[in-house]
Amino acid sequence: MAIKLGTLELKNPVILASGTCGFGEEIKNLVDINKLGAIITKTITLEKREGNPPPRVVETPAGLLNSIGLDNDGLKDFMFDKVPHLERLKVPVIVSIAGDSVGEFVELAEKISKVPCIRAMEVNLSCPNVTHRSTKFALLAQDASSVEKIIARLKKATHLALIAKLSPNVTDIKAVASAAKAGGVDAVSLVNTYPGMAVDISTMKPRLGGITGGLSGPAIKPLALKCVRDVYSSVKIPIIGSGGIMRAEDAVEFILCGASAVQVGTANFVNPRAPLEILEGIKKYLKKKKIKNVESLVGKLKT
Ligand SMILES: Cc1cc2nc3c(=O)[nH]c(=O)nc-3n(C[C@H](O)[C@H](O)[C@H](O)COP(=O)(O)O)c2cc1C
Repeated sequence: MAIKLGTLELKNPVILASGTCGFGEEIKNLVDINKLGAIITKTITLEKREGNPPPRVVETPAGLLNSIGLDNDGLKDFMFDKVPHLERLKVPVIVSIAGDSVGEFVELAEKISKVPCIRAMEVNLSCPNVTHRSTKFALLAQDASSVEKIIARLKKATHLALIAKLSPNVTDIKAVASAAKAGGVDAVSLVNTYPGMAVDISTMKPRLGGITGGLSGPAIKPLALKCVRDVYSSVKIPIIGSGGIMRAEDAVEFILCGASAVQVGTANFVNPRAPLEILEGIKKYLKKKKIKNVESLVGKLKT
């Protein structure tokens, strides 16, 4: 079940998605996370962020809308409060980072690189619930040249593997993945949530305090799959698929479309054991199809 994402080697392809497993501590009594390929922490920023006003989460018929707004306690708290817990985990830890400027990203990367238990960084260029000062685009991942610039700077600032988390809310995701590759990433995560909203007609108000949010869960799976297929067929870069993976069959679809690994997000809120069930289900599928390892399944969609 081992897989390679550039310089990052994992014992299996099932990863907990950022923002849906806290820092591991929050869910470690619900699921044996050490059996998974890796966990990705909640995105951290240099300074503490309060996030968006409540309500921050709304269920939709086939998904979840969230407008958390990168609420986190900042780098200092991460170092003193979260790292001691992360050090005790046996699962590889990937830290998700976001910044308002290239300088912020670089400072985060330099400091996080000094923590021995951290294996990689996922660069969150795609949170739909925050705005950025450094570009005229709503999301950094909408500007291919910013993506390349940030990744290239981070590459110089860290020895850790780098993953760029991209947004589906772009005209051409292949161009952005290509820019991330040119900057030097080890892999791309495809995709973050889709922008959306929900309205309460009794109050005539938006259901989310932040008005709009990011849609995740089964509703986005077909859209996310297409992003993975598009990038896989045109850019040579390892892909981590994300978007509506609830069961092993979903994960297999992503792997067939070209994902070397998968992230499980919204499913954790429904069934914290889902990631382990997905892992076991992928193994069963390989056995049934007589495929000797998961890497041989990547991109094997018959068209
Ligand atoms: C409540 C919630 C919080 C999230 N927070 C983050 C975050 O801090 N950073 C990030 O990169 N993605 C965040 N995401 C996006 C997920 O990591 C994932 O990419 C997305 O939800 C799609 O996968 P899913 O359909 O399996 O949930 C969040 C998603 C949810 C539902």
